[in-house]
Amino acid sequence: MRHELPNLPAACTAVEILRAGIDAADGPVSLACSFSLEDVTIIHLAHEAGLNLGIFALDTGRLNEETYEVADCVTHRFGVKIDWFFPRHDAVEQLEREKGLFSFRESLDNRHECCSIRKVEPLGRALAGLGGWVTGMRSEQSVTRGTLLPLELDELNGGILKINPLHHWSEEEVIAYVEKQRLPTNRLLRQGYRSIGCAPCTRPVEPGEHPRTGRWWWENPEHKECGLHRR
Ligand code: ADX
Ligand code: SF4
Repeated sequence: MRHELPNLPAACTAVEILRAGIDAADGPVSLACSFSLEDVTIIHLAHEAGLNLGIFALDTGRLNEETYEVADCVTHRFGVKIDWFFPRHDAVEQLEREKGLFSFRESLDNRHECCSIRKVEPLGRALAGLGGWVTGMRSEQSVTRGTLLPLELDELNGGILKINPLHHWSEEEVIAYVEKQRLPTNRLLRQGYRSIGCAPCTRPVEPGEHPRTGRWWWENPEHKECGLHRR
């Protein structure tokens, strides 16, 4: 386990953060990719800078078809390989047999149970053997991410580096970058979606509403994390 973080200059670009994290990590580094605007931005930045960055994605079994389409476009545009991770089939079978297909709507505990089976356990396998992982999180995204740092020690995942190169970007900056570089985007974004996760836990938002209002919309804002990013 690492015990210290590399020093970063005060005002760092996303590529400088990525490079510093990759150089400091004790092993390979991969992007956790949900095919969001942020994630495709990071893929493009790393590609342009020639950085050695793997890509993994967690297929929860409940993603939108539109998300798979972005994954396919990314694969072809950048010639990259995506390491997909699925949940354990026996755990999903047991959950669905015992509690049905929408248990996550019934209580916070049930929602955490589903996220734990479909996201957190596969994440553990995705991170095994890595020296660091990259996320597309930004600090303005939610109350739970307000203190996000560019580099963190992920104590909950063996002390590997967690690299958040877009931590300081606004949503407008991300959109401008994606448009300028003509990066692949999710068709749902043109239907009012602003933040996209699993299909049954994501809906479009009204103009002026916070982008994450459409995620787990039946819960309070302080609960809107799925366990991937417990800190
Ligand atoms: S979540 O925790 O609420 O679902 P969010 O959708 O904001 O996360 O995404 C934040 C970051 O978490 C993404 O930029 C990506 O790095 C990672 N992430 C989220 N969902 C997945 C997924 N299904 N597979 C891989 N990484 C993911
Ligand atoms: Fe289950 Fe919803 Fe969490 Fe996806 S976001 S793993 S469907 S509770």
